Amino acid sequence: MSVSNMQELFIDELKDLYSAEKQITKALPKMAKAATSQELKQAFLSHLEETNGQIQRLEQILEKLEKSPRGKTCAGMKGVLEEGSEVLADTDKGPVRDAAMIAAAQRVEHYEMAGYGSAREFALLLGEQEIVTLLDETLAEEKAADKKLTGIAKQVNAEAKLA
Ligand SMILES: [Fe+2]
Repeated sequence: MSVSNMQELFIDELKDLYSAEKQITKALPKMAKAATSQELKQAFLSHLEETNGQIQRLEQILEKLEKSPRGKTCAGMKGVLEEGSEVLADTDKGPVRDAAMIAAAQRVEHYEMAGYGSAREFALLLGEQEIVTLLDETLAEEKAADKKLTGIAKQVNAEAKLA
């Protein structure tokens, strides 16, 4: 897909986010399964549910723009998630693995926050107020998920230190 104006860049960014979210829905169940902390497991599972809602939002947005959500692979998220699965290969189940998974998951959240932040600015610039609102809802969820992980990390890291 060639990108020569802001409208096309906006669509490209949305497709990229769609691909990223799709990849995340495949990774989160594995991360939940690998987690020892019940709180962390629950956080991954509830973010999975949230992510499905975020996918629906992107579908709604792209439908409004009369574009398909498909056609792009987010290579950045692929790399971030690959690092996340390395964590599972490099650690045994327990608090150290949990601490490492939180570090990986927070990278995912920050990557998404960057993408959604840019996309909502593009939407604002292009006068797509309804889309700005939808993207802001997702952005708020990603920020909250990141903050929640920071909280869980306090407990998990302290336990991991004793391991
Ligand atoms: Fe997300």
